[in-house]
Amino acid sequence: MSLYSRIIGTGGFLPESVLTNRDIEDIIDTSDEWIRGRTGIRKRHVVRDGESCSELAEFASRRALEAAGLEPAEIDLIVVATTTPDQIFPSTACLLQRRLDIRGCCAFDVQAVCAGFVYALGVADQFIRAGSARRALVVGAETMSRLLDWQDRATAVLFGDGAGAVVLEADRNPGIISSHLHADGSYVDLLQVPGGIGGDRNEDHYLEMKGNEVFKMSVTTLCRIVDETLKANGMQKSDIDWLVPHQANIRIIRATARKLDLPMDRVVVTVDEHANTSAASIPLAFDVAVRDGRIRRGETVLMEGFGAGFTWGSVLLEY
Ligand code: UT7
Repeated sequence: MSLYSRIIGTGGFLPESVLTNRDIEDIIDTSDEWIRGRTGIRKRHVVRDGESCSELAEFASRRALEAAGLEPAEIDLIVVATTTPDQIFPSTACLLQRRLDIRGCCAFDVQAVCAGFVYALGVADQFIRAGSARRALVVGAETMSRLLDWQDRATAVLFGDGAGAVVLEADRNPGIISSHLHADGSYVDLLQVPGGIGGDRNEDHYLEMKGNEVFKMSVTTLCRIVDETLKANGMQKSDIDWLVPHQANIRIIRATARKLDLPMDRVVVTVDEHANTSAASIPLAFDVAVRDGRIRRGETVLMEGFGAGFTWGSVLLEY
């Protein structure tokens, strides 16, 4: 009999400090009206000095473990999706492992930017299906505010910090039904942080984006991944109960919902409250909708994300 990965607990964590659109008006030439109209964002949480990505990951993970009724020691796989690791190495997954005092299990990071969480979930699902892990902690955690040039109004208004986590357990019943992961590295120039180990100029360490081009690619690619996911499973649009999309822009989210013929009350939206938290946005949104009772056991959920690379993907699951 097949093995599936079931989500048995979710958790989210947002840093306490909040920056509203009006707060940003005091820093750069922008307006609450422009930001809300073009993106749907009203506010974002941002880390303070001393707060770290692994700390956000720890708090979200502890909440997910508590919801799952598990002790950290019962986890045998940790996958962290992040673009903003605390250190170049060790991985944020290892830093998280130390914080949770888990020893010996496999732990690694996945770097697929805003598609990071669907990548991490897809990879962890493969471990569980293969029998290589029984209980996995899958986390999306980001401190995107540290990659922003706060003088660049085209990007500074878009992102926020936070972490979301799920605990997966091997089960004979679904579970994750399928995952679909893709990348096309020819689009590097449209969305990137150019700095790296070889770079020595500080200004290379800021996020750069050709927003309009990314927007168009994002809409068409996410519509394609919806078709691919439904076709692979012989499903109809009407079989989807909930869309939990990456939270980059409400206009992109609405376009994907239209593609699925889903009314917006079946779409989990947190972009207004959290802004774009990259790999953290999907697990944060999922946690919100599970905890407020919207997403119920047995319902079919489609998660999808698109990010720099380009990377994109979906995970279809029965909750
Ligand atoms: O998560 C990973 C993937 N990322 C995304 O999916 C983001 C995709 N892109 C977007 O969401 C949108 O492209 C943005 C929200 C970034 C921008 O919206 P847009 O409708 O594509 O606007 P635009 O870049 O074409 O700019 C329109 C105008 C420009 O002025 P002019 O040239 O028309 O006079 C910009 O200078 O808006 C101006 N503008 C701003 N005005 C006020 C750009 N940023 C701002 C700002 N405040 N913050």
